[in-house]
Formats: sequence, structure tokens, C-alpha cells
Amino acid sequence: MCGIVGFAAGENVTDDIFAGLLSLEYRGYDSAGIAVIRDGRIECEKVTGRVSKLKEAAKGLFGKVGIGHTRWATHGAATKANAHPHLSYDGRFALVHNGIIENSTELKNELAGLGIEFKSETDSEVIVQLIAKNYLGDPVKALDAAVRRLTGSFAVALICTDFPTSVFAAKKGSPLIAGVGKASAMLASDILALSPHADKICRLEDGELLEMRKNGFGFYKEGKPIEKEFEEIKMKNIKTDKGQFEHFMLKEIFDQPEVAKSIIEKRIKNDEVVFPELDPEIFSDIKHISIIACGSAYNAGIAGKYILKELMRLPVTVSLASEYRYATPLPLEGTLTVFISQSGETADTIAAAERVRFLRGRSVSIVNVKDSTLTRLSDYTLYTEAGPEVAVATTKGYTAQVMTLCLLGIWAKRNERSVLFEATEAIKSIPEIMLRLLGTKDKAEELAKRIRKETSVYFIGRNIDYAVALEASLKLKEISYIHSEAYAAGELKHGSIALIEEGTKVFALSLIPELTDKTISSIREVKTRGACVFAVCREEDGATAEVSDEVIPLPVVHPIVGAVCEVIPFQLLAYFTAKYRGADIDKPRNLAKSVTVE
Ligand code: F6R
Repeated sequence: MCGIVGFAAGENVTDDIFAGLLSLEYRGYDSAGIAVIRDGRIECEKVTGRVSKLKEAAKGLFGKVGIGHTRWATHGAATKANAHPHLSYDGRFALVHNGIIENSTELKNELAGLGIEFKSETDSEVIVQLIAKNYLGDPVKALDAAVRRLTGSFAVALICTDFPTSVFAAKKGSPLIAGVGKASAMLASDILALSPHADKICRLEDGELLEMRKNGFGFYKEGKPIEKEFEEIKMKNIKTDKGQFEHFMLKEIFDQPEVAKSIIEKRIKNDEVVFPELDPEIFSDIKHISIIACGSAYNAGIAGKYILKELMRLPVTVSLASEYRYATPLPLEGTLTVFISQSGETADTIAAAERVRFLRGRSVSIVNVKDSTLTRLSDYTLYTEAGPEVAVATTKGYTAQVMTLCLLGIWAKRNERSVLFEATEAIKSIPEIMLRLLGTKDKAEELAKRIRKETSVYFIGRNIDYAVALEASLKLKEISYIHSEAYAAGELKHGSIALIEEGTKVFALSLIPELTDKTISSIREVKTRGACVFAVCREEDGATAEVSDEVIPLPVVHPIVGAVCEVIPFQLLAYFTAKYRGADIDKPRNLAKSVTVE
């Protein structure tokens, strides 16, 4: 993943680069570095670990142009040598890179054969060495020649001692945005790093290069200068703070009722669901809905699938973007593809969207981050309006995605009054139900204490409960590092039940009245084998309570409300379990907020 920043200004840029990196830390946080040009030489400082450690390390740096990087390792461990910026063998260039170079081994061998010594194990270092080797006095030409030889994805920023007032950059497949402010020019992987300084921004497209000075930009494509327009920045000074909460994740869990309210305000007008961004006829000849996403967004797709199928009576399939992108392409006639992504920058989802576009399929994206890459690859974008999500583990982003999918299903059936009324009323009750479910906090904390020493935990459920179980399990494992799995309750007996032994903790999700008896049978099956069962069920469901060791009772709700809200006690469970295990809740190990590499 990684985040890159570059600045050119009339004064020292180190602090601005550092601040930019802090705001990009969600993209990776295993090492960081800054390089500037001072008195015709490159000065560079790097640290392993968090960006905050750079403050001290980089305090002696001074330069009017510079570049910075926060890393999520793909090639080589999180060491200082592998941290960016990387310097060329002749000391003339420093470079930062976001992406993956797939032919780096081949290029490395070629350069090593010419006597160039590599200082890191990264794929990125080959780029700066190639540039130095190609250099004949024009950095744009050398950069262009180097990137033409790369396969994979990249956004790179480069400084050169011969041009001490310029930053150079190139892009293919990874995001890169240029910005212009009162006294500086800048570039970064994400608008978040630019918003405190920039008045206008310009997104680079694949194949474009730039040279940036404090008071001007030159853009190039295929070796020729091109004109590009800057637009007013829409998201100025995006502020994110934890308020009274100990962690962003807890704050974001508690943000959910407000997010749900703002979605309702935007999407329900006079009791009717509205999607003014969509062509009113978009569903008229649709025979299949194909949802594509990754991680929690995929789980949101599974939850949405049950609701959409019920409302629309259409086949709905959900694919992992990483699988979809390499599967045999099938004709997309009669299919509406729905991409779901909080960041809108997930590489696999973007690749899937490019493929659907290539196949001329019709598509809608459900996205949180405004103007992100995915929004430009789909025919229509529906923003989830969840606000900035800082914790790496998504919470409000996920519930906003499920809610938007449900609203989309209701909108598609807007001419069928009977379906509509009940479903729309259900949506309207979501903020209130969310508030009630946040009241399970103490119970979730108590259960967290009981599972904090476990090595494996299981979640079972059927239908929507199964979809929520998938997300509950992902939440727990990603932030507490306890191994957990979710199973469709009826599937357990086909093999996985072999894992159950005396004392195994199993969470049984059971909100659907018609399936209660079936889930009770599954609970009995695991209890017979020694499991300790914590059930989340309707408060009136005495039968489930009777067969379980503990119960978190939830109100009786419409399936739409269950699909959106049932996850809340499990978000809290994951949060408190991670807390009692001393884990880094907002920045779990090995993860990053936006997965911009394959
Ligand atoms: C888990 C989580 C990830 C993301 C996934 C897709 O808490 O946040 O699984 O859901 O990486 O990210 P987006 O939604 O940005 O495409």
C-alpha cells in the first residue's frame, strides 16, 4: 500500500511532509522516511515503526523540496534499509514508491550485472537505480524511460540534486494527486495529505508524469507536454479526532446512529427512497445483480444479498474482487454489477471494475471516500456518507454499506407499495435500534474478558445471521489476533465440527424467527461436544436462551434492521477483546486501511 508525499515551497518543507505522512499512516505504518535537498545534496532520514518516530529523527532536515513515505511492506521486512526514500547509486536521486513492481527481480539482475549495488530488498529501489542509469541531464526523460520498463503498479515521487527546486512524479495504477496552495505545490497519494494546504487539486491519470515547482506544474504523457485542469478542493481541512473516546474504533462504533440518521435524511424524502444519482430505469432489464468487493465490504455484500434477493426476487451473487478479476469473463448482459468499497482505492476492486468496464457491463459503486478512483470507473456512484473512518478495522463504513444496499433494493421496488412501506419504516428505525444495541457495551466487555485468552473462537448463524457472523469473526481476528471462523450453522456438521472440544467458545447468532429451531439444533450439536455457547438472539426467544450458556438479548427487528445492526455487539466484543489483550486497536499489525496493492 504505502503513502507518498512531495512538497516544493519557498521554505522548509519537512514539517509539511511529516504532517502529510501522519494523515496517510492509514495506508501503512511499518516504517517511514523523508528526503530533502539541502545545499545540492540529498539528506534523508528513515525510521522503522510509526510515522510519529520520524518527528525526532527528521528534526535536523532542512530543504525547500522534499518527499516522504509511510510503508506497508510488500518486498522485504520492515527495516530501515527497506524503508523509503531510496537513493540512487550516484546519490543524485531519491525516490518514494507506492505500488508493486512485478518485474523487479529481472530488472535488479540486469542492473546488478552493470555493477549497481542494491542497498535494500525492495522492488522500489530498482526504479531509482534505473532512473540514475537512464539519466542524461533531463529527469523527466529519465523517469519516463524508467517507468516504461516497469510492469505492475506505481505512484512515484522523485527529487534530483541537479534540480533542487523540483519534485518529479509518475503514476500507473496507484493513486497520485497534485495540489496547489498559496505558497507551495504538493503531491500525495490521498487528498487527506493535501487538504490542509491545497486550494486546488488535479488527479494524475495512468501514464502521466509531472514536474512540480513551488509556483508551477508541467505535465507530460508519452514524452510530450500536456495540459491538465486543476479543480477547487471539495474536502478542505478534513478533521478527524477521537473526541472523548479512547480509540478511533470505539468512536466510530458510537458514530453509527448519527451516520444512519444522515443516510436516512439523504435517502428518504416524504417516505420515499430517493437515488437522484441513478438512472430511474437502471433496473428495468436487469436479471442478475453481481456484487463485488473485498474484506468487510464483501461481508456487507453478503448481508445485502439476502435482503436484495428477498426484495427484488432476483439472483444476487457476491464475489471477492481478487477472485473475480482473474475468473473466466462471462457476458454481462442483463447484469448490474455493484462494487462496494469504503476507500474506493482497493486495488482488487478497482481491477474488477476495470474488467467490468472493458466488458461494457453496467455498474454502480457504493463508496465512502469522495472522488476516489472507483467512482471514476463505474457508471454511477452512491456515497455511503459515513464520514472519515480512521480505525483500520471498519465499523461505521460497513453498516453504512449494508444500509445503502438495502435502500437500493427498496428503491428498485419503489412502485410496489406493499414492500415499500414496511421496509422503509424498518430503515427509519435503524438509528434508534443502533442506540439500543450500543447498550450491549457492558455485556460485550464482560464476554470479551471471558474470551480474551482463547486461541480459537467460532461464530455460527444462518441466512442474514451467517452474513453477520462473517463480519463478527473478521472483526475479532483482525484486531485481537484470536483465530476465529464463521460457519453457516447448518454446514458445521460437514467437517468443521471436528474442531469443537471441551470449552470451545461458540457465538451463535439467531435473530430470524423462522430459523430459530434450526439454529437451536446447531447449538445443541456443539454443546454436546463440550462447547460453551454465547447466543445473540431475540429478547423473547427463551428456547435459544435455554440451550445457551449466555445470551445477549436483542430487540425483535425487521430483517433489514438485523442485517445492518446485529453486528454492533460483535464490533464491541472485538474492540474490548483487543483492548484486554493489549493490541493496537486502531492500527492492527500487518494491516492498512486502504489496500492499494494486489
Ligand atoms: C476490515 C476491513 C477490510 C476492508 C477491505 C476492503 O475491517 O476494513 O477488510 O473492508 O480491505 O476495503 P474497502 O472497503 O476500502 O475496499
